[in-house]
Amino acid sequence: MVVKLEVINELDSLYNRAVELITEQLNNGANTFGLATGGTMLPLYEKIRQSDLDFSNCISVNLDEYVGIAQSHPESYRSFMNTQLFDAKPFKQSYLPNGEANNVQEEAQNYENLLKSLTLDFQLLGIGENGHIGFNEPGTAFTSETHVVKLTESTRKANARFFDSIDEVPKEAITMGIASILRAKCIVLIAVGEKKRAALEALVYGEVTEDIPVTCLQQHPNVIVLTDLDLSK
Ligand code: PGA
Repeated sequence: MVVKLEVINELDSLYNRAVELITEQLNNGANTFGLATGGTMLPLYEKIRQSDLDFSNCISVNLDEYVGIAQSHPESYRSFMNTQLFDAKPFKQSYLPNGEANNVQEEAQNYENLLKSLTLDFQLLGIGENGHIGFNEPGTAFTSETHVVKLTESTRKANARFFDSIDEVPKEAITMGIASILRAKCIVLIAVGEKKRAALEALVYGEVTEDIPVTCLQQHPNVIVLTDLDLSK
């Protein structure tokens, strides 16, 4: 088992540990950070905003973006990142897929080419209740690179809380693929709350299967999982 599991019951301490891991990366010369969105990341980005960390010489590359809403929409991942992190902590360059591109397939290919031109020192991940990472839904090939996905109903329902109604939740997204994610040198996954228990158990104890995308991380040499869930319960 190469996944390093750190169970930290108290959420403030858990997010402090995440900041500590990012600080260590910066101190060790990391300058290319894969970033994530989602409710799980809000306390982390708040702590980073309040810190004296400096990313002005760094590049960020986000996991995914919705297709079919404007970048200026408050729930686009571009808006999320600007509000939660970049406005306060600018990077030298920050990339997200462009979900407004006329040709989203071509955009996905361009994004993959960009990723291949970089070395991701670090990748931050959340986890979906169904075990997705990025928007790689169950059944996605572990060999997948950046691609356009149709979001599952369970993911749309989980994200409906951010929109006025489920009808407004986009039906598609552009996401880094599993293979794209696994190229990062170090991966830190944060899983908080009971809803994530089944997916986390699959990652820690389950067999590696494309039916539960997060299990791909068992094949990566440097994964740290921060969770408030005591898996023995
Ligand atoms: P959440 O999303 O942080 O909003 O729970 C995580 C994910 O779906 O990857």
